[in-house]
Amino acid sequence: MSLKKIDPNQLELVKYPDPRLRTKCAEVKEFDDWLRQVAERMFEIMYASKGIGLAAPQVGLGIRIFVCNPAGKPSSPEGMVFVNPVLTDLAGAAESEEGCLSFPGVYGQVMRAAKCRIRAYDVNGNPLDRQGEDMLARIWQHEVDHLEGVLHIDRFGEAAKLACRRTLREMEEAYKGKGRKKSLVP
Ligand code: CO
Repeated sequence: MSLKKIDPNQLELVKYPDPRLRTKCAEVKEFDDWLRQVAERMFEIMYASKGIGLAAPQVGLGIRIFVCNPAGKPSSPEGMVFVNPVLTDLAGAAESEEGCLSFPGVYGQVMRAAKCRIRAYDVNGNPLDRQGEDMLARIWQHEVDHLEGVLHIDRFGEAAKLACRRTLREMEEAYKGKGRKKSLVP
């Protein structure tokens, strides 16, 4: 499958139920200027939305890259890009509330491994190997899920699923409405 290198400035936050969020993403093969610009644009969108992580499908791209910054501030040095990430050594379990920039207002408890190891490449193609726990491990697991088309709502328990049902339905209606308006444009 050839990759369409969309102008990174055109990328925008994709929200539920956009089908692009269900993409199983392809490996990144080229560590080029385009990829670096995509990562920069992803940081911009993430910070503007006050997020701490953002994966490529959330800007409509089906490639294996995510950005994160557990401090959530552009000025903090913790911003990192992970390309072709692989999680291993998942250990322990922790339940905590999770949100997602593609689901404004939808929060729920999600069970994750308490610790994990991530191996990936940085945006220039240098290998990375890091261990994380707590919040950091949770962000990595949430973002790697995105690259498989898996969303936090899929991991909600029954109570959280029920609690967000109405909001999801409203988002589905809003999405359909947008489609209708678009189809009126010749
Ligand atoms: Co998310």
